[in-house]
Parts: sequence; structure tokens; C-alpha cells
Amino acid sequence: MSAPGTVIWLTGLSGAGKSTIARLLAAELDRAGTPTEVLDGDEVRAALSTELGFAKRDRDTQVRRVGYLAKLLARHGVTVIVALISPYREARDAVRASLGPFLEVHIRAPLDELINRDPKGLYRRALAGEISGFTGISDPYEPPLHPELVIDTDLCDPDTATARILALLQRSADTG
Ligand code: PPS
Repeated sequence: MSAPGTVIWLTGLSGAGKSTIARLLAAELDRAGTPTEVLDGDEVRAALSTELGFAKRDRDTQVRRVGYLAKLLARHGVTVIVALISPYREARDAVRASLGPFLEVHIRAPLDELINRDPKGLYRRALAGEISGFTGISDPYEPPLHPELVIDTDLCDPDTATARILALLQRSADTG
């Protein structure tokens, strides 16, 4: 279903759907017998990046750390799904350059939709000035210029998004 060691890098704003899609995708790959691991921003921060905040330097460190973990897993043939805001293009591109097969998927939705969804209440707090440097509100997000795929989660449900990524994986395995 996917070339061994492929890294699928889901980037996008908080609440866009990265973690939901990562979990569904991992379940599908597991079902197909593909060794798979998910590296989710919130989880990696809780386990390994507790000292990091959200300044550019810290976010870049987080991206580098996750990229390194992905590299270790990928070199043993694991398909790695990363779900990370990873807002800075240069940091994402550096990770891409350090890895083998890499599929960058921009998970996006309009900001007003994200503000409406707000499952963690973070947008409300950011708009109220209670969280500074919140991506998309008071901190930048640099969209990928040449992602392998863009998914608009206001226009498709998580199952459809997952199916589109699986199709991309299949195409990339076929073309090697
Ligand atoms: S980054 O930018 O790649 O280092 O971010 P990441 O490691 O993916 O962590 C994003 C989650 O942190 C929570 N959070 C914030 N996000 C953005 N900006 C600020 N200031 C912030 N503060 C806390 C938020 O829950 C993000 O989770 P997701 O899953 O993206 O909603």
C-alpha cells in the first residue's frame, strides 16, 4: 500500500483535522498489515518536548526532533504519519531533505471555520489575548508551496480525506 519508510507529513493550523486524519490513516494502514507509527505534536510535546514553547526557535526544534524520530522509524521500514502544525516552510523543507520518501499534506480549513470548531477552546482564548503567539491568530503559518496533496476539511469528511491520502500513497509506491 505504501513504499516502506514513507513519511506522511500532515501540516496545518490547530483544529484543521491533522490528528483525526492521522489516526484514521494509521488504522487503515494497520489493517493492511503496514507497520505504522503516528507522531502527533501534542503527544511528542508531552513526552519529549516539555521544555519547548511556541516561539519560532522552539517550533523549529520541535519539527527537527520529530523529523529525526521519523527518520529512525522510517529507516526500519515503518510508515510514519506526522501530525504537526510545523508552521515554518524552511524547517519543513529541511526535514524533507533529510528523509527518503516524503509526502507533505496540507490539512486546511478557513480560519472562521476553525474559530467556529474550536474543540479545545484555544482560538477563543487566543482571540481574547489569553494565549500569545497562537498560530493563525497572532503567529504566522507558512503554507507549503508544493505539497503533494491539499485537503480542505471544510469540504470533505475525515474518511474521504483518509481515502485521498491512501490513494496518494498507492500512487507514490507505484511510481517509486
Ligand atoms: S508546532 O508549531 O509544530 O511546534 O506545534 P505542535 O507541536 O504541532 O503543537 C501544536 C499544539 O499545541 C497547542 N498549542 C498551540 N498551537 C499553536 N500555537 C500556540 N501558541 C499553541 N499553544 C498551544 C495546540 O493544542 C496544538 O495542537 P493541534 O493538534 O494542532 O490543535
